[in-house]
Amino acid sequence: MSKPSVKHKGDPDTTGHVWDGIEEFDNPMPRWWLWTLYVCIFWAIAYTIAYPAWPMIKGATPGLLGWSTRGDVQADIDAVNESNAAINARLASTDLTAIGDDGELNTFAVSSGAAVFLTWCAQCHGSGAAGAKGYPNLLDDDWLWGGDIESIHTTISHGIRTEDDDDARYSEMPAFGRDELLERGEIDQVVNYVMSLSGTPQDASQVEAGAVIFADNCAACHAEDATGDRDQGAPNLKDAIWLWGGDYATLTQTVNNARFGVMPNWNTRLSEAQVRAVAIYVHQLGGGE
Ligand code: HEC
Ligand code: HEC
Repeated sequence: MSKPSVKHKGDPDTTGHVWDGIEEFDNPMPRWWLWTLYVCIFWAIAYTIAYPAWPMIKGATPGLLGWSTRGDVQADIDAVNESNAAINARLASTDLTAIGDDGELNTFAVSSGAAVFLTWCAQCHGSGAAGAKGYPNLLDDDWLWGGDIESIHTTISHGIRTEDDDDARYSEMPAFGRDELLERGEIDQVVNYVMSLSGTPQDASQVEAGAVIFADNCAACHAEDATGDRDQGAPNLKDAIWLWGGDYATLTQTVNNARFGVMPNWNTRLSEAQVRAVAIYVHQLGGGE
């Protein structure tokens, strides 16, 4: 049993709870605390009505204000596009070769081209544009299809060997082995000849015969002196810069089965200003002519 309480004058009522003789005063909540609680409850209700809040089966309730983080991002993008609209229009209409002489326009093109490159091109060409096997290095001055600004623009705009654009750059190296255009021994000879042009052949005794095979079968595209032909995207085979590889095994594979590098056309995915910006960005990377 609990002891009777010892109540002093002026003490508030007790709650009637007693633990080991300790009683609890029935003090009211402090006003400031109570009001803070009410404000918080009101705020929470108002917030869930105004903003996206309650999770439903397909996404949250949208809220009366119609606000969303996605909408915020879109508004930012729209604002940037709007502030760049004038210079983008100028970029799309200025003569390609004259852009380099217009300092402000050129600076804008290079920086917006760099952003386009990282978004759309880096997957294949590498973020530093150094390329990879089958994906050309865009930093050097070894060009398959041409390195002046107009050629680069055409390549990017229409793509290479893509079926989606009738104006795409197109050429096809024959699959000399697979399609039985050359015998195995002849392929060996021509591969050794190609190796001899920029380094050491696997088997020097084959080189002489390989030169004849080359003149008859390869020179039409890669040129008599093997320096390539940009009209056909046929690589220079003398410069020791390889798209697919210059070792014996890779060269044998290339001549046997040919290669068919495909790049998408960008004229349907990017605006003309973006295509020009990224062309100018690529052109100024170091190898532009
Ligand atoms: C899906 C992969 C892929 C993407 C993405 C891609 N490319 Fe390419 N690109 C290639 C391939 C493959 C080639 C070489 C085709 C060939 O063998 O002729 C190439 C070739 C090029 C060339 C020609 C190089 C030369 O030596 O003539 C340029 C310039 C180029 N790309 C720029 C770009 C730009 C700019 C972008 C982004 C807007 C881009 N590429 C995106 C795959 C890609
Ligand atoms: C009809 C034109 C054509 C003919 C003929 C041709 N080529 Fe090619 N060759 C090309 C093209 C185009 C490419 C680039 C293919 C690509 O990048 O997808 C190429 C690529 C190559 C490569 C790859 C180069 C590298 O940098 O990795 C080698 C090697 C090569 N050819 C050797 C030969 C040899 C050897 C012959 C003759 C037996 C020959 N080609 C005949 C058009 C031709």
